[in-house]
Amino acid sequence: MTATTDLDALFAPDVIADPYPLFARLRDEDPVHWNAAYQLWVVTRYEDVVWMVRNHEAFSSAVIRTDERPPYPPVNPGDLHLLHGVRAFRGDQLVEQDRPAHASMRAVVHEFFTPGAMEAWRPFVRAAVAEFLDEVQDKGHMDAHRDLAAPLPVRVITQMMGVPERDRDHLRDLADKLLYINRGEPHRLQPLTEGIRGMIDYVSPLVDRRIDTPTNDFLSVLAGGESAGVFDRNQVLVNAALLLFAGHETTMNLICNGLLALLNHPDQWARFVANPERYARLATEECLRFDPPVKSTQRIAARDVELGGRQIHAGDRIRWIIAAANRDPAAFENPDSFDIARQPNPHVSLGAGIHYCLGASLARVEGQEVFRAIAERLPGIRLDSAHLEYEPSIQFRSLRALPVRWT
Ligand code: HEM
Repeated sequence: MTATTDLDALFAPDVIADPYPLFARLRDEDPVHWNAAYQLWVVTRYEDVVWMVRNHEAFSSAVIRTDERPPYPPVNPGDLHLLHGVRAFRGDQLVEQDRPAHASMRAVVHEFFTPGAMEAWRPFVRAAVAEFLDEVQDKGHMDAHRDLAAPLPVRVITQMMGVPERDRDHLRDLADKLLYINRGEPHRLQPLTEGIRGMIDYVSPLVDRRIDTPTNDFLSVLAGGESAGVFDRNQVLVNAALLLFAGHETTMNLICNGLLALLNHPDQWARFVANPERYARLATEECLRFDPPVKSTQRIAARDVELGGRQIHAGDRIRWIIAAANRDPAAFENPDSFDIARQPNPHVSLGAGIHYCLGASLARVEGQEVFRAIAERLPGIRLDSAHLEYEPSIQFRSLRALPVRWT
């Protein structure tokens, strides 16, 4: 494959396979780059990214509601009538709100996701990981994506939402459709719309019940927000689905990209296997930094603002590249080396500022438990494929499969 020389080629096959050379060039040559192909700014330096994300007054998160431009990459023209519904749904997500609405919505859900509250979920996560590994251990091989990384987050989130066990498969089907939100395929609006409608139909009656009889699950927290007048019904439904939007593919990618990084660095894997208990937390942070689950995310300029010597105008859209900032030599020593004992490790893989990932502690618990269990149970694990493929997404760094083998 020939290396892409076009700085705008965010979706070129070699860039999807390995975005780091392009991101390094952007960071060195044009750190606040105007991407003419997709009409957006691309910000790659750590300092610029952190400044921008913390400056929520100048850089709005209401990307979907504000941005009327056609989606990129393009969708099938025959599906454009679905765009309005998808935008209306996504525009109500917490991550799309600016202050003051964001602060009051986040206050409703904050308690449920504190580090202490998520620590209480660790035994559940550990048991689920053990169950998935029990299924495959004697076979000597698995697709770590299909058999572990994909089912684990859905199992945890459906439990948090209070979804009965018998409905888990249905929710998994819906979650798979919702994943199209981050894809580049031209037909993506079809499955996405089915996923959104399916979620609304499924969650609506559950919310009705929680309003009458609250329990301690996450739907009851949202229903409480509706009773208190912070959320309207649509926002409750959207934000219930948001857990699947936000916590599924992200965690899946942490598990796959992290495991791949560990296996591609045998010295680090040996170090980890020798003491999983000691390294689980630091190694998970390094996995998050080195090959982040979310490559980039978006903002819209709320006013004219200068960044890195470039003039950004109100209404311009901006992509901040987490995967580039995390490898900025100005912020990290030897940024391209994978070091499971790296400390400090101020990566931006979980965002920064007021939209800092709500599920950060949960994602960490899941990563730590998975990597630790694999190191303890399958220390001789190795890659079982010379060719790995990624989804064609600018936002997510998503492997399609991760075949592994052990003896
Ligand atoms: C490794 C896994 C994860 C990664 C890498 C990740 C990454 C991120 C990032 C980068 C943001 C900031 C987006 C922005 O500022 O535009 C974010 C926000 C968010 N994340 Fe995560 N996330 C992960 C897991 C989760 C999980 C498990 C959940 C919930 C169950 C979750 C729920 C959210 C929510 C609700 C927001 C929006 C917060 C707000 O706007 O205040 N995430 N996440």
